[in-house]
Amino acid sequence: MEAMPWWKKGVIYQVAVRSFADSDGDGNGDLRGIIDQLDYLNDGTEASLGVDALWLTPIFASPMRDFGYDVSDYLSVNPLFGDMETFEELLSQCHRRGMKVILDMVLNHTSDRHPWFLESRSSRDNPRRDWYIWRDGRAPGKPPNRWRAVVEGSAWEWDEATGQYYYHAFLPFQPDLNWRNPEVREALFGAVKSWLERGVDGFRLDLINFLYEDELLRDNPRKPGLRPYDWQRHLYDRSRPESVELVRELRRLLDGYPGRMMMGEVFTDTREDAVALLGDGTDALHLSFYLHFAQRRWRAEAFRESVGWLEENIPERAWPCYYLNNHDLPRSFTRLGGRRDAYARAKVAAAMLLTLRGTPIIYYGEEIGMPQARIPRGRMDDPIGKKFWPIPVGRDGCRTPMQWDGGRYAGFSRSEPWLPLGPSHPERNVEREDADPYSLLNWYRRLIRLRRERPALRAGSYRAIEGAPGGVFAYLREAGGEAVAVLLNFSPRQVSLRRLRVPRGDGKWRVLISTHRMGCDEVCLETIFLRPYQAAILERA
Ligand code: NOJ
Repeated sequence: MEAMPWWKKGVIYQVAVRSFADSDGDGNGDLRGIIDQLDYLNDGTEASLGVDALWLTPIFASPMRDFGYDVSDYLSVNPLFGDMETFEELLSQCHRRGMKVILDMVLNHTSDRHPWFLESRSSRDNPRRDWYIWRDGRAPGKPPNRWRAVVEGSAWEWDEATGQYYYHAFLPFQPDLNWRNPEVREALFGAVKSWLERGVDGFRLDLINFLYEDELLRDNPRKPGLRPYDWQRHLYDRSRPESVELVRELRRLLDGYPGRMMMGEVFTDTREDAVALLGDGTDALHLSFYLHFAQRRWRAEAFRESVGWLEENIPERAWPCYYLNNHDLPRSFTRLGGRRDAYARAKVAAAMLLTLRGTPIIYYGEEIGMPQARIPRGRMDDPIGKKFWPIPVGRDGCRTPMQWDGGRYAGFSRSEPWLPLGPSHPERNVEREDADPYSLLNWYRRLIRLRRERPALRAGSYRAIEGAPGGVFAYLREAGGEAVAVLLNFSPRQVSLRRLRVPRGDGKWRVLISTHRMGCDEVCLETIFLRPYQAAILERA
């Protein structure tokens, strides 16, 4: 078991670089800011959060029209965040602490201001024309087919100067690269390689199931759905078999460098797609994002079903990965929190996230219970919010500055931050949470420590426990002779576990941690009453 690679046994922490910590007082988070906060993340003692790896949102040169997901140079560091020297210092300081660094690679598209695209759009016979996907319309004024962009409208943008359309799966300023062109592949593999050579430990791959589209540009069959994008079954414009093949090739590249990993954002409403990108569990993605889990409502049964499906369908040699938050989703504190019970629910959610079989990803601020913020329209930055407010409102509300203290700028910066602070910062911040032994932050710290200490939690098997009352998600994690039971009460009621059918469960269990005091240290699970929103973790005595 000890041979488990770091990306299986560790906890990953997602840092939205622009929003985490600003060292130079320009209102934008930066790499030096992260270096200054490394003790908070992992100083090797129980006082710190104890995470094992940092995933940094894109740090490359970019016009920043989409939070850095519009890259204009894959080989240089965005001056807003620092320079290569500072990045290398961050990397080596992380490594000295035993922490890994994961970069966010955007392989599907570039910025429309990337020199490659500027060349490509300059004329039809430019040597880089074919680096992107250019096509004639199917009739005057009609795009080549009916594919839609994820955000809105046709996925094809008319280019007046050269009289053709280019393809963009996301926003019009993010033209899709043509992965069928070997030069594109060479350029992007070259970029990946150069970061591997610098010692980066892994990559988060943006929209990885979008790399290829159907060569014949066949239209998708229609289907009912909420938004126009969902009115099509995305058979031909995403999750193509060629994308899995490409990921396999990338895997071979990474395998040439010991200890590296890649985790992929698989954007889909079809769970099978996320599993497909894991290949046979050893030859494609190391970890695949499971959006289905992150989108569940606050119901024990919904999470149990989602976990059960993945456990059943993931290739045997693959490893699950779970998250509740990222820079695209409304924060779980608010989304799952209900009107009054958000803080109590956040503790239950954390206990689940950190005790399932799989690698957990925490999003900055989740550990202190940062709620979703409302951003005044005039201060919005997200292109989706700016264009479509109020539906959808955009993604800025989950990207507000990290709340370090109750000061004017929440300890994030010395000057006005690039996005307004969340209004919760005077009472909800690291300084206050740190001082309160019952805070959410200290609960996260304890859970992470427990996970590190217990092989069953880190590496053990997962089995749902039958017979739990409605509103309770209960499961066992087992490894070697060790068994750990996780009992999560999602409901605001006290519940009895008397009908619980614990496998080989007649014996006594010892409480490891619990959100609420338990009567005694050793109990039979079937005699327990769980308090409203109680999370308890016990080991077989
Ligand atoms: C997914 C990223 O998570 C999101 O933030 C971004 O806008 C799109 N991909 C486009 O790159």
